[in-house]
Amino acid sequence: MSYTNILSEQNEHVLTITINRPKQLNALNKDTINELNLALVKANEDQSVGVVILTGSGDKAFVAGADIKEFASFNIEQGKQLAAEGQRQLFDLLENLNKPVIAAINGFALGGGLELCMASHIRIASDNARMGLPEVSLGVIPGYGGTQRLAQLVGRGKAMEMVTTAGMITADDAKASGLVNHVTTPDELLPLANKIASKIIKNSPNAISAAMRAINTNYIDGVNGYDKEIEEFGKCFGTPEFVEGTTAFMEKRKAIFRQ
Ligand code: CAA
Repeated sequence: MSYTNILSEQNEHVLTITINRPKQLNALNKDTINELNLALVKANEDQSVGVVILTGSGDKAFVAGADIKEFASFNIEQGKQLAAEGQRQLFDLLENLNKPVIAAINGFALGGGLELCMASHIRIASDNARMGLPEVSLGVIPGYGGTQRLAQLVGRGKAMEMVTTAGMITADDAKASGLVNHVTTPDELLPLANKIASKIIKNSPNAISAAMRAINTNYIDGVNGYDKEIEEFGKCFGTPEFVEGTTAFMEKRKAIFRQ
């Protein structure tokens, strides 16, 4: 499939999706969100994909936010629809993908850009990255899940400060706050993402999806995460991957989960 605003490249079991509007600092317009939706739906269904790496084109930005020029003239209804559609089509889809997504944050990750990172499962950043939710400086609030996921990741107090000041934090601050897991140089960012991916793809795809569903359940109101864990744990026992994993352990060899 050919895309206009993203690049998609698969190397063995690792799919790298690059948001590719560098002149607009990779801002998320409607077409880009549509293309990301298509690429992620495809990745979700494609068993040959074990991990997705998400990054931005150029050396300046991961994603500088939702496309301000596109929504500047919207009314209340259109604003509401922008957030609802975006969350459904991209951010919730991403969070609930059946394989891990690593956001490799290579520069500005602002507004919708940071929200994209936060809906991903693992975040790593280059040391030149700057992150923030500057929406209140535009007279609006984060609309792609930022008010919820930032507080989950960094705690309510830090989220309140970041959102109300509309400020940017450095990659090192982001690591200290738990917003990113690792900081490295720009040159080492994609190699590090691939190194993490290579560890993930050695493991059982079924168990990885099940564990991700159990972890995500903690953030769904009214559903007991421990019950979900028990259910998912039990289901694993009926899979060929469980047989392979446990047999390999007893035969003192490495389990083979992928051809
Ligand atoms: N939307 C549309 N275009 C954007 C953009 C955005 N979010 N961010 C940058 N651009 C465009 C600029 O308009 C500019 O285009 P032109 O050359 O055509 O004028 C180009 O990208 C380069 O940007 P700058 O000249 O501004 O670059 P800079 O180095 O001076 O500044 C920056 C970089 C600090 C990131 C600055 O571009 C900026 O503040 N961008 C906006 C960040 C922002 O507010 N993001 C939140 C968007 S709202 C949102 O995301 C809502 C939501 O949750 C749903």
